[in-house]
This record gives sequence, structure tokens and C-alpha cells, in this order.
Amino acid sequence: MKIFLDSANLTEIREAKAWGAIDGVTTNPTLVAKEGREFFPLLKEICGVVQGPVSMETTCRDAEGMIREGRVFAALDPHIVVKCPLTKEGLRATRQLTNEQIRVNVTLCFSASQALLAAKAGACFVSPFVGRLDDISGDGMGLIRDIKAIYANYAFSTQILVASVRHPMHVVEAAKLGADIATMPFAVLDALVTHPLTAAGLDRFLQDWERLPASAKTWKTAEPSARDTR
Ligand code: G3P
Repeated sequence: MKIFLDSANLTEIREAKAWGAIDGVTTNPTLVAKEGREFFPLLKEICGVVQGPVSMETTCRDAEGMIREGRVFAALDPHIVVKCPLTKEGLRATRQLTNEQIRVNVTLCFSASQALLAAKAGACFVSPFVGRLDDISGDGMGLIRDIKAIYANYAFSTQILVASVRHPMHVVEAAKLGADIATMPFAVLDALVTHPLTAAGLDRFLQDWERLPASAKTWKTAEPSARDTR
């Protein structure tokens, strides 16, 4: 499963990239507004760091406006994916932009019927918001299961990009269900790594190592030759 970072914060993106953990980034107007920076230079800088798909959301409600913005966004960098909302106007824009070979991530998806229409509009990605469904006692991961079944029945090429991820189990469940991608805040990515037994185990290894006498711990101090022939 691919992992995207749901962030427009370059410090977080650089850190996650350095771990080798992320394959792309998703942004939205809320995340971009948090950074308080000029939109295009920020997204261009993110593309330079990520070198993978970077979703950039349109900021209008009508198809003509989304198409107009989508063309400009796509011209900014080859890694840009245009985000359109799952509305009738958003589907219309998705169809037109896709016809122009511009990749679209259809966002704010909350039902299997919406996801079916996103695939029929030619979306490259669909973003079901599992956390926001769970937040109102819905079944976020059940939606992923339904979309996966529908897409498999008809060999749709639209990639399932699980979004609105709140905790590591959303990521684990998404992987078990065979979602293509999960996008998550840095805090969730960080929580994927951390386990108390790992920390405790490492502490124990190194404490035991410290008990070994120094004489038993010598090794070559010289830099190893390009290929140590001994
Ligand atoms: O960016 C799309 C989605 O991941 C946002 O989710 O619910 O955390 O705002 P949320």
C-alpha cells in the first residue's frame, strides 16, 4: 500500500520523506491555509521534495472554475494531481480534466454510490473520508470495503485513497482491505512507528551490551577498506 502525507507543512514532509515512508502528499484548502504561505510557491516546493503525486484542491464550486484552476495547477508541476469535490460540478470537471490527461483526485467522498460515479468520471484517485464518517457513528472502513468490492467487480482503474485517517488502525485496516493508498497526518504516521516493546527491547539490548567488558568489544578502528579482503 502506498502512503501519502496529509499535510502542507514542509518540515513534516521532509521528515517523512527522509524515513522513506511516503509516496506522495495530499493537501486541501484547510491544510494550505494553516501554513500561511503563498499557494503556488508552497505547492511547487512540496513537489520538489516529494517527487510523487501531490494533490492540490480547486477552490470554487462550478465546473468551469474547477477546470480553469485545474489546468493552471497541472501546469505548475508534473507531480500535481487536481482535487475536485464529489459534487455534480466536481464530476463534470473530473470528466473534462481527465479527457485532457490531467489526473484528478475526487475528494469528500462519503458513500459507495459517490465512489462509483467518481470512477465512471475517470478519476485517478477517490478519497473516501473514513474519519469524518466514524466521527458521526458511521462505518468508515465499511465504506472502503464496499468501494473495493465495487471497483473489483468492474475493473475500475480509479485508486482508492483512504483519507481522513484518525489513527494507526485505520491504516492497518485499509491495508488489510487492499486499499491502494492511505493518506494521513504526520501524527498518525509517527504513531505507526512507535511501539513501547520496541523501545524497551532496544534499551535492554544496549544495557546488556554495556555490561560486556571493553576488551570484548574491540573492533577495527581504521575505516574499512573499500572491500575488506581479510
Ligand atoms: O485532506 C483530506 C482528508 O484527509 C482530510 O481529513 O477529516 O482530517 O480533515 P480530515
